[in-house]
Amino acid sequence: MTGAQEWQGRVGQNWAAEWERTDRSFAALTPYLLAAIAAEPGKRVIDVGCGAGELSIAVATARADAQVTGVDISGELIEAARHRAAGLTNLAFTVADASAWEADGAAPDLYISRHGVMFFTDPPAAFAHMSARAAPGARMVFSCFRPATENPWALEIARLLPPAKPGPSVDFPPGPFAFADPDHARRCLKGWRDIRFEPLDFAYVAGSGTNPVADALSFFSRIGPAAAAIRTLPDQQRATFERALLELVQSRHVGGRVCFPAAAWLVTATADNQ
Ligand SMILES: C[S@@+](CC[C@H](N)C(=O)[O-])C[C@H]1O[C@@H](n2cnc3c(N)ncnc32)[C@H](O)[C@@H]1O
Repeated sequence: MTGAQEWQGRVGQNWAAEWERTDRSFAALTPYLLAAIAAEPGKRVIDVGCGAGELSIAVATARADAQVTGVDISGELIEAARHRAAGLTNLAFTVADASAWEADGAAPDLYISRHGVMFFTDPPAAFAHMSARAAPGARMVFSCFRPATENPWALEIARLLPPAKPGPSVDFPPGPFAFADPDHARRCLKGWRDIRFEPLDFAYVAGSGTNPVADALSFFSRIGPAAAAIRTLPDQQRATFERALLELVQSRHVGGRVCFPAAAWLVTATADNQ
């Protein structure tokens, strides 16, 4: 599970330090998301869980007549986003929990997100809030992961780890795969209609440059399931895991990059608030 506390703490700090490599990991997905966003009208655009702001910056640059706001719960990520976006006058960033945040001024007419909506504590309440605060018939476009079984970047690392201890039982465990099941995601999208899921497959780039294997190992030591294992496993288990991770990364080193297949949903919906 990755919830608000983690994003406000170590996980958010690591993503803020690693934004160039996290953007790279999504680089093959982002053009699909931007094309879907470009097909939607909207002048008050909210990027939910905007992280270091790549999507917000791209949309604000493409839509000079729109006001774009990136909302994220991590202060470090918003700081990184502000730094990157300096000079764009139609873009603002704010540190807030998007599940309860209220826009100043005109109501949002387009919500967008690249993998930033799967971490709410109570997703039905969060999406109902977003719908209620939106302009009538506002649209939403976001991406999220399909199941771990279709995402070797996560599955193959998970297989190298000792079985996870069961966490506390909650109705809506937040995390990267929280919306993997469309039926479950539909139940979460309270206040939204015309919900559509389009599958997108992309190459998750974990390593590149002069030494792609070393690059991928250092990336995985900061981001994702391997990072937590490297930090928390006892010495001997950690050494075994690191050896296995090296072999895995080497096996995925092809053509100057370390890439893993990844599978996402592109989700679109209309606010049911008229
Ligand atoms: C997987 S990252 C994606 C970041 C960014 N959209 C990107 O594509 O790089 C998930 C983001 O959601 C943010 N987040 C998690 N829970 C949130 C909440 N309740 N409100 C706002 N942002 C949240 C995290 O801080 C993090 O930046």
